[in-house]
Amino acid sequence: MANAYDEAHSLSLTDPAAFWGKAAEDIDWVKRWDKVLDDSNPPFYRWFVGGELNTCYNAVDRHVEAGHGDRTAIIHDSPITGTQRKISYAELKQLTASFAGALADQGVGKGDRVILYMPMVAEALVAMLACARLGAVHSVVFGGFAANELATRINDAKPKVVVAASCGLEPGRVIAYKPLLDEAIRVATHKPDRCIILQREQKQADMTAGRDVDWAEAVSNARPHDCVPVKATDPLYILYTSGTTGQPKGVVRDNGGHAVALKWTMKAIYNVEPGEVYWAASDVGWVVGHSYICYGPLLHGCTTVVFEGKPVGTPDAGTFWRVISEHKIPVLFTAPTAFRAIKKEDPNGEFLKKYDLSHFRTLFLAGERADPNTITWAQTQLQVPVIDHWWQTETGWAIAANCMGLEEFPVKLGSPTKAVPGWDVRTLDENRQEVPPGQIGALVCKLPLPPGTLPTLWNADDRFRQAYMDEYPGYYKTGDAGFVDEEGYVYVMTRTDDIINVAGHRLSTGAMEEVLANHPDVAECAVIGVHDDMKGQMPLGFLVLKAGVTKPHAEVVAEAVKMVRETIGPVAAFKKALVVGRLPKTRSGKILRGTMQKIADHQEYKMPATIDDPDILPEIEEALLEVGLAR
Ligand code: COA
Ligand code: AMP
Repeated sequence: MANAYDEAHSLSLTDPAAFWGKAAEDIDWVKRWDKVLDDSNPPFYRWFVGGELNTCYNAVDRHVEAGHGDRTAIIHDSPITGTQRKISYAELKQLTASFAGALADQGVGKGDRVILYMPMVAEALVAMLACARLGAVHSVVFGGFAANELATRINDAKPKVVVAASCGLEPGRVIAYKPLLDEAIRVATHKPDRCIILQREQKQADMTAGRDVDWAEAVSNARPHDCVPVKATDPLYILYTSGTTGQPKGVVRDNGGHAVALKWTMKAIYNVEPGEVYWAASDVGWVVGHSYICYGPLLHGCTTVVFEGKPVGTPDAGTFWRVISEHKIPVLFTAPTAFRAIKKEDPNGEFLKKYDLSHFRTLFLAGERADPNTITWAQTQLQVPVIDHWWQTETGWAIAANCMGLEEFPVKLGSPTKAVPGWDVRTLDENRQEVPPGQIGALVCKLPLPPGTLPTLWNADDRFRQAYMDEYPGYYKTGDAGFVDEEGYVYVMTRTDDIINVAGHRLSTGAMEEVLANHPDVAECAVIGVHDDMKGQMPLGFLVLKAGVTKPHAEVVAEAVKMVRETIGPVAAFKKALVVGRLPKTRSGKILRGTMQKIADHQEYKMPATIDDPDILPEIEEALLEVGLAR
């Protein structure tokens, strides 16, 4: 007999309109859709065409109207400041309506963009929801990015207003956001009309007269704003993510498909009920933060946790257990790197013994490959299912997962289990032919993609086609390689492009190379991701210096490291580079980054048939040995 998963997965592919039309009944619509799926203009698919709704209404107001105003919507837990704050759904409605009014006073309306540069405070969610309330399009920029990255996003999104906090808090240091914002606006070609600044007591910001407005003042003068109906296909947000160059891709998310899909995943994948507490330990600057700190849990009527801290050091490796126990959290979602960090500090789980976790049900991991060691350690310590699931900024929710609310399958270590309903995952070879089960190839998803996935890139339909749709016509290219076994379990092995994954953060080595190439002494460069026990991967740079440079190599390297930190940001974690005489290349001049990575990671490698000069590889090996990499 077919199980609930098989039934759902099969219907979602044979009759997506029936499947998602039913899921859409769980959302409140101002106007019902005319058509569930408009597939008239592939590869641009549109969901719930003709429908109108408001995402903020669905995430906040409707729970209040249903009598759940007293339920806690947000718990802000900050071990860094030693404070906690609980916000009920009724309060969240009031805060969101007031801030929407403040944004409207600054001229923000439907379709206008608003950039949010915010740390992990409840106001980050309030600002996102307030934009949604107005039908404005938010774009959150992660706090670990430097001014230049913020400027790139300002130029692309052209926001009317930027909302920022005066500072973010990292363990042991206060990061003043305002100087970074001022510098970003100085170098950007687009200038926002206004900046609304949330003053935090740890570091107050100097305000620019005529441009900057204080959050508290703006709100106190504002009239609460109602929810503005928008089309299901109107954009809710833009989230920039690393591509293969320094120009990030603006992933667009619509309103209707997004609300339907995320609401559905809360039960189907995570198996949580409205009223339960759901914790995604990530950051609002990443897609996980958008989908599962802000929108998913709130659309489902859960309590969401905004955690301002790290898995270790704030104050210790027991922080996660303290939060789970104190707030009675049944489900946690984080990146494997967080667990590797905890395991390193507390291998025997001594901290765990101090807390009552009897109500904890499931741990979900994503953002990078979950190594079997980490999964087994977490299972042993927590004695609950540890569920790896695979997704991307572009998809907004999981492509493959053990759907705990449908049918729990046995875990196979190294696999995020099966394609989630809505996803038709295939493995293709370089000739675009499907390969047999178990054989590695490019992981692609047959079109149409389900609702809530990217309908396009911001103002870049051509780039959307070229990046995701052109190489395998009829399929979405995930950029990941792997295989699907005989039982339909998906295995995600590696990226097929220049993207690396550092502590669950997605970074472009191409973007780092662009920065290094600007160093006056550097003639040529390459950046690869090398294995790191804690962060999964770390970037490593190779620099070839211009003829006649006499500066000590260590000096050039230090300058290069500083340049990447100042241009991309501390999150790039670019700390190591080597000066080499030359780079290994193919005869056509392509740098053999893959081979260099294999050498650095102690993997077997074949001498590439197309290599220009085989003698270079031993030189690279020697340089790596000098810094403790390679054999
Ligand atoms: N604002 C400013 N700086 C930030 C920042 C922010 N929001 N987030 C990170 N940084 C800085 C860090 O302070 C660090 O700076 P440093 O080089 O001076 O030490 C640098 O960026 C790198 O940060 P990170 O990669 O996070 O390393 P870390 O050593 O601070 O922490 C982990 C390592 C594993 C504990 C941490 O990455 C973590 O908790 N990861 C969880 C996974 C996660 O959130 N993934 C997101 C997708 S699910
Ligand atoms: P991001 O867009 O930051 O979410 O990063 C997406 C990329 O992270 C994917 O394309 C994968 O390379 C990687 N990734 C995310 N989740 C997993 C997972 N569960 N297993 C393996 N790789 C993953």
